Amino acid sequence: MGPGAPSEVWRYRAELLKGPKNTVSENPDSYLGPTIRLRRGQTVKIHIHNELPEDTTVHWHGLHVPSDVDGQPRLPIRPGETMTVGFEVLDRAGLFWYHSHAHGKQGGRVGFQSYAGLAGLLIVEDEEEADLKLPSGDNELLLVLQDRTFAGNNELVYLGRGMGSMMDRMHGFLGDRVLANGAPPTTRKVATRPYRIRVLDGSNARIYKLAWSDGRPVTVIGADGGLLQEPEDRPYAVLAPAQRLDIWGDLSEFQPGDTLELISDRFRAGMMSGGMMDGMGMMGSNALPLGSRFPLARLEVSKSLKASEPLPAQLGVQRQKIPVNSNTRIRSFELSPVMMRGFAMNGRRFDGTNVADDEKVRLGDTEIWEFHNSTPMPHPMHIHGLQFNVVGRRGGNSDSLQQGLVDSGWHDTVLVMPRETVQVAMKFERFDGLYIYHCHNMEHEDAGMMRYFQVQ
Ligand code: C2O
Ligand code: CU
Ligand code: CU
Repeated sequence: MGPGAPSEVWRYRAELLKGPKNTVSENPDSYLGPTIRLRRGQTVKIHIHNELPEDTTVHWHGLHVPSDVDGQPRLPIRPGETMTVGFEVLDRAGLFWYHSHAHGKQGGRVGFQSYAGLAGLLIVEDEEEADLKLPSGDNELLLVLQDRTFAGNNELVYLGRGMGSMMDRMHGFLGDRVLANGAPPTTRKVATRPYRIRVLDGSNARIYKLAWSDGRPVTVIGADGGLLQEPEDRPYAVLAPAQRLDIWGDLSEFQPGDTLELISDRFRAGMMSGGMMDGMGMMGSNALPLGSRFPLARLEVSKSLKASEPLPAQLGVQRQKIPVNSNTRIRSFELSPVMMRGFAMNGRRFDGTNVADDEKVRLGDTEIWEFHNSTPMPHPMHIHGLQFNVVGRRGGNSDSLQQGLVDSGWHDTVLVMPRETVQVAMKFERFDGLYIYHCHNMEHEDAGMMRYFQVQ
């Protein structure tokens, strides 16, 4: 058992009833749910049994699935109940995840339940990706980044007390330790070869600035919705809550005994989160403010190999970008603060399945959604049921992480920086019905920065 007294941990346990053996692999040494591996085209059926003392749901984050199996707040599983969901895996290969999406009368429970352990990885594989023969097996590292705070007896602590709790809810919860796969970052013995490092930000609110300890560029090969068309070198890469990045880490030029660290580098959080308040001594509880530097994984070269796999120049997995032009409908969402009550989108907060007229879209349409952030905080905006392209951004502050925002490829979550406007293009295909869009800062989401939209 990693840190966190068992009494405080809520876990997903899985049992494979039928199917390929590697479909489910438990993570016995941590609170993380089992890693689920699916193949594109496969049909899955999952029985979800709730043994918790309260309602929960299981949301398949990033997957293109029918509204009724999307694990939304309107589909709670009551204590003691079992819900069976089935869907076909339509998405191309990529790193997805699943987590609780419960929202009760009193407010959201996503932050609490995910923090307590209700989250896990879901990997989709397909032939296109397999043809590339990217590093796999021992040469593929999966990293789930989460920050946690522990009490003296190693119990998980969620939200501060009194004023601290209010601040945590406003900024989003930041733990004072960063865990990788539910445990303190570890050293991993590696060989002189490339590794595929696939990272999920499974934190409630923390943003990571992924960088190498020796300053070498970060080679990004994939994002939320799978591989990019071609690799991209960045000085660092930004990973916001719910986002995934696929990184090519090449150690073929190293010598045995050398080490390399994947870190989250320092950045100026400024007014973004915590920083300002820390300066005023109001968030005294937080020992690891947003923008701190800390290690995520340490690679120690222990074996030298002669040959080394080259990085494919074309990742080759083609999926046409969504075509947009000046006639494409633009839907705007203004993200704004609500006094003492969190944040709103176009002045609205979560209101069950009530959908406003401008939250109805037509099945088959392509639209651009524009998020304008008029708050001093970043918001990772997530749309259910599809993958989108980032069309562009404007208005952001150039010194705040801009060089590390990976906007190419396919995404289901996009970080909208303070004062920034970001446009994303999407096509509403195949499934009609209710879906949701929300900020994936879980405390913001739980406080109501979430709305239903209807595809009809
Ligand atoms: Cu990761 Cu609405 O979810
Ligand atoms: Cu989602
Ligand atoms: Cu937010």
